[in-house]
Amino acid sequence: MKGALALVFSLFLLAESKYRGDHWSRANEISSHRPDKYASDPPDHKELIPMARYVLHNSDWASIATISVLPAITGFPFTNVKSIVDGSLANSTGVPYFYMSPLDFTARDLAQNSRVTVLVSLEESGYCLKKAWDPEDPRCTRLMLSGKMKRVKEGTPEYIFAKAALFERHPSMADFPPDHNWFVAKLKIVQIAMVDWFGGAKYIPVRDYLAYNYTGTEVLDRHNHLLRATTEVEA
Ligand SMILES: *[C@@H]1O[C@H](CO)[C@@H](O)[C@H](O)[C@H]1NC(C)=O
Ligand SMILES: *[C@@H]1O[C@H](CO)[C@@H](O)[C@H](O)[C@H]1NC(C)=O
Repeated sequence: MKGALALVFSLFLLAESKYRGDHWSRANEISSHRPDKYASDPPDHKELIPMARYVLHNSDWASIATISVLPAITGFPFTNVKSIVDGSLANSTGVPYFYMSPLDFTARDLAQNSRVTVLVSLEESGYCLKKAWDPEDPRCTRLMLSGKMKRVKEGTPEYIFAKAALFERHPSMADFPPDHNWFVAKLKIVQIAMVDWFGGAKYIPVRDYLAYNYTGTEVLDRHNHLLRATTEVEA
């Protein structure tokens, strides 16, 4: 009996160390892809506005929840993935911008009801993995922005800025099928909820969040570093 228990225990240890091995090799892969020098750590968790803006600016994509119009689930919440920017690499605005096609789930739902909740997580930056924090760990900051989606009017300075920013961070958007009637949309934020530490949700005043002058250059630095690395490989 003792032998059997010892066997079970050593198998457990083996599995555990294999898991840790995989976990850490993935973490190393990510940190070598995003060298620490170019990936400044998030702000102190007590700095709610800088933290919220950091998490959004460092996120390339968001989960977006809408009220569905699909026949089998009309009125149910439905989520989708969207590539986002919150401004250009060099100029964060705190407003998420989207590139949408009316053919997609999200735009169809929005045509009936423009209310959404957008979620981004610090997990996307690789930081939680580096700290061995589970994605649901309250220290792995998540930001839930709720509000109404608005189409950005074509040809306006905001449209030109937002579309250039989307294409800068997501170069493959330039190759999206041209006949899908792409448009630029933005979130008019009504509520900002954030979990960034133990002790429950924080609610951040929208006006202060938008007024905050974000000066972090980590996303731009990382982008320039990757660009240099790619051109060196190609050269
Ligand atoms: C950053 O973007 C905002 C919003 O479009 C704009 O008002 C501002 O002039 C831009 N700043 C820079 C330095 O480009
Ligand atoms: C934001 O901060 C930078 C650096 O301190 C400064 O140059 C810039 O003028 C500020 N922008 C605004 C809108 O206050």
